[in-house]
Amino acid sequence: MPQPHLRTVVVLAAGEGKRMKSTLPKVLHPLLGRTLLGHVLSAAAPLGADRTVVVVGHGADQVRKHLSEVAPDATPVLQAEQLGTGHAVRIALEAVPDGAGTVVVINGDVPLLRPETVGALVTAHEEAAAAATVLAAEVPDPTGLGRIVRDADGRLERIVEERDADATQRAIREINAGIYAFDAVRLREALGKLSTDNDQGEEYLTDVFGLLRSAGEPVAVHVAQDHVETLGCNDRVELAALRGLLRDRINEAWMRTGVSLLDPATTWIDVTVALDRDAVVDQNTQLRGGTVVGAGALIGPDVTLIDTIVGPAASVIRSHAVGAEVGAGATVGPYAYLRPAAQLAEKAKVGTFVEVKNSQIGAGSKVPHLTYVGDATIGEQTNIGAASVFVNYDGVNKHRTVIGNHARTGADNMFVAPVEVGDGAYTAAGSVIVDDVPAGAMGVARARQRNIEGWVVMRRPGTAAAEAAQRAGDAKGASGVAGAASDSEAMHGAAETVGGTSGAGDTATE
Ligand code: UD1
Ligand code: MG
Repeated sequence: MPQPHLRTVVVLAAGEGKRMKSTLPKVLHPLLGRTLLGHVLSAAAPLGADRTVVVVGHGADQVRKHLSEVAPDATPVLQAEQLGTGHAVRIALEAVPDGAGTVVVINGDVPLLRPETVGALVTAHEEAAAAATVLAAEVPDPTGLGRIVRDADGRLERIVEERDADATQRAIREINAGIYAFDAVRLREALGKLSTDNDQGEEYLTDVFGLLRSAGEPVAVHVAQDHVETLGCNDRVELAALRGLLRDRINEAWMRTGVSLLDPATTWIDVTVALDRDAVVDQNTQLRGGTVVGAGALIGPDVTLIDTIVGPAASVIRSHAVGAEVGAGATVGPYAYLRPAAQLAEKAKVGTFVEVKNSQIGAGSKVPHLTYVGDATIGEQTNIGAASVFVNYDGVNKHRTVIGNHARTGADNMFVAPVEVGDGAYTAAGSVIVDDVPAGAMGVARARQRNIEGWVVMRRPGTAAAEAAQRAGDAKGASGVAGAASDSEAMHGAAETVGGTSGAGDTATE
C-alpha cells in the first residue's frame, strides 16, 4: 500500500518588509481579522501538514509570540541573517527530521491565498509525482516579481528574478507567486547546490527549479485561476489595496449566504465573524474578531462590533461594542458604548448616550438615556431613569450594584456600590442611593427643596428676571424675604432629606 504523503509546510517570514516602514514586522500587520501570517497559515491549514515550520528573523520574538497564540503547533525556526529564500528553506529543513514526502513553501506575505488554491497546487504536484511545482499567475503588472520562463514546448525552464532578467524575460507576464510544492528529498539535494551568483548575492529558492530541470527532474507549473490570490504585500499602499479586495470577497460571500449588506463598500467584516440569515448590515459598519450576528438582526449604520454576540432580531444603531452580548430582540443605541461583559438579555434596551460595562441587564429591562452602568446586575422588566450613574469605583476597588425585577429608579440617580435595590422598588429622582432599598420601598435620598420667596427682585433688581417676576405679580415676595436667609445660606444651605414618601417618587423617565 502506498504511504500517504508526509507533508511539511514552510512559511517564509524572516524578512523585514523594509517598505512597510514599521516597527511591526511585516507579516504581523493586521488584515480583516488576521495578521498577514495568520492568513497564510489558515490557507495552509486544510493541507493537514504533519508539521509546519515558520522561518523567523526580523522581529523574531514578536513573530514567535504571535505564533504561540494563533498556531501553537507551528515551529518557529530562526534565520538570523536573511541570506535569501533558498537559504531560509534550507534552515527550515535542517530543523525537521529528514524524510520523504511533500514540502510546501509559502511566502509569508500572500494573505489572499485561498486554501482551495494551495490545496489544488499540492494535489496536482503529488498526482504528477513532480520534483517541484510552482504556483504561477498571469498578472497585468509583473514589476518586481520573478518570471516563469518556459521552453518552446511550454514547459518550465527556470524562474528568473526581475533584476536578473533580460528584456525578453521582463516582458513575460506570467509570474512566480512565491508558493511551491516540492518533493522533500529532491528539494534537499537541490538546496545544497544553490549559488549566490545573482544580483542580490542571495540563495534563491527559485533557482531550485532550473537546477532540477537541468538534472532531468520533472518540474511543473500550476496556474492560479485568479491572480488576485497571489498578490503580495510590500508597503502600506498595497496592504490597503489587499484590504479592499479581501473586504469585497468576504462581503460577496455573506451576501450569497443570505445576509443583506446595504453598502458593501463601507462594510468591513473580519474573516473570523459569523452572520446568520437575513441579518441586515447598514453602511459604515465594522464587524470584527469573534463577532457573531444572529438571524434578522439589524446592525448599523455607523456601528463597530468587536468580539460581540448579537442575538436574532436585535438591533444595534450607531454604537460601539467590545466583548458584549446583546440578546434576542434587544435594542442598542443610537450612540451606546458596550464594554466587555456587558450582557443584555432578551428584549433589553440600552439607549442613547449609555455606557455599559461588566453588567447584566435583564430581559425587557431598559436603560434608555444618558447613563453609566458599571459592575451591575439589573433584573427583568426594570426601568433605569435617565442620567444615572452606577458608582462602582471607590478609588481602589470596584463594587457591584444589584437592582431587582420590575424596579423603577428615578432620573439622575447615583447608585453608590455596593448597594441593592429590591424587586418592585422605586427610587426618587435625584437620589444618591448609598443604602439598600428593600423590595417595594421608595428610596429617597436628596435635599428637600426650599423656595425663598421674592429673592430675585431683592437680590437681582433691574434684571429681566426681576422684571418678569414683578410682572407675574410677585410683589409679596419682595417684602417677604426681608431678614430671611443670607445669600450663602440660600445657595448652599440645608441639605436635609425628605422624611416622608409623599410626592417623592416623581419624574422617572421611560
Ligand atoms: C520572491 C521570489 C519571486 C516571487 C516573489 C513573489 C525569490 C528569490 N523570489 O521574491 O520569484 O515572484 O517572491 O512574491 O524567492 N524571506 C525570508 N528569508 C530571506 C528572504 C526572504 O524568510 O532570507 C521571506 C520574506 O520574509 C518573504 C518571502 O521570503 O515573506 C519572500 O521574500 P522577498 O524578499 O519578498 O522575495 P521577493 O523579492 O518578493
Ligand atoms: Mg516579496
